[in-house]
Amino acid sequence: MNTHTLIDGKAAAARVLVQVRKDVDRLREQAIQPALAVILVGGDPASQVYVRNKILRAEEVGIRSVEHRLTTDTSTEQLLNLIASLNADRSIHGILLQLPLPAHIDELRALQAIDPDKDVDGFHSENVGGLSQGRAVLAPCTPSGCLYLLEQTCGDLRGKHAVVIGRSNIVGKPMAALLLQADCSVTVLHSRSPNPQALCRQADIVIAAVGRPRLIDASWLKPGAVVIDVGINRIDDDGRSRLVGDVDFDSALTQVAAITPVPGGVGPMTIAFLMKNTVTAALNQHQAQRSQSEAVCHSIY
Ligand code: GUN
Repeated sequence: MNTHTLIDGKAAAARVLVQVRKDVDRLREQAIQPALAVILVGGDPASQVYVRNKILRAEEVGIRSVEHRLTTDTSTEQLLNLIASLNADRSIHGILLQLPLPAHIDELRALQAIDPDKDVDGFHSENVGGLSQGRAVLAPCTPSGCLYLLEQTCGDLRGKHAVVIGRSNIVGKPMAALLLQADCSVTVLHSRSPNPQALCRQADIVIAAVGRPRLIDASWLKPGAVVIDVGINRIDDDGRSRLVGDVDFDSALTQVAAITPVPGGVGPMTIAFLMKNTVTAALNQHQAQRSQSEAVCHSIY
């Protein structure tokens, strides 16, 4: 019988959050209260659940959260005004603009308007570029969480062949950049890749982030592969609504060494890394303010 490990994202996220809580306590001792502003435009039901969970988790670890709910008919200009006021507010360290936005809003302009130092999603081109250059920047939360799970499961990732399925800006592309930084050989597959199964079967590590329910089954996997399933797809299963990943879990179990379940795999990691990024942002901003005021002191003497 094939033995495999279930990668427990809930337990891993809890470990990350324990450390975040300690970091928050240390910042509070220095009179710094880390704070996250969350912007939700419109009434997308899934986004409402995600935002609620992010705010709950922030409260649990001692991060102050400020929620801005805007109606669907909000204009790009109105959204940009809100972002500008949050950028200028020194008591706010992180700004999260929940995606997707209503179609009439210029998403790129809105994301680029967020101060890169407060960009806890790592979506600003300054942070995207920094990540691909291997600089220490705020990196997107879901791929950061996936990398953490892989390091916990595989140990040293150097030289492993990682296949990323999907090329979104939120997961696929930053995931590939993080894996490269970890010295993996990286292949990115997408809807135009010919014979993706054959390429995927060469992978030691598979990251599935395509948004297609149960697309990847045992025929895509080499024996002993480690699989991270980022997909969260709601399907109708004989009249019952349920969540499944991009991986056909039961089929994959016959091949894999380790796999994340859906739910309870990657999902909790995204929020844990959002909290971690918020604390990092608070720390960075405080240090920058301190060195600025030190520079002023030097200049007046
Ligand atoms: N929508 C789906 N995933 C994400 C995410 O990681 N960040 C934001 N801001 N929106 C999302």
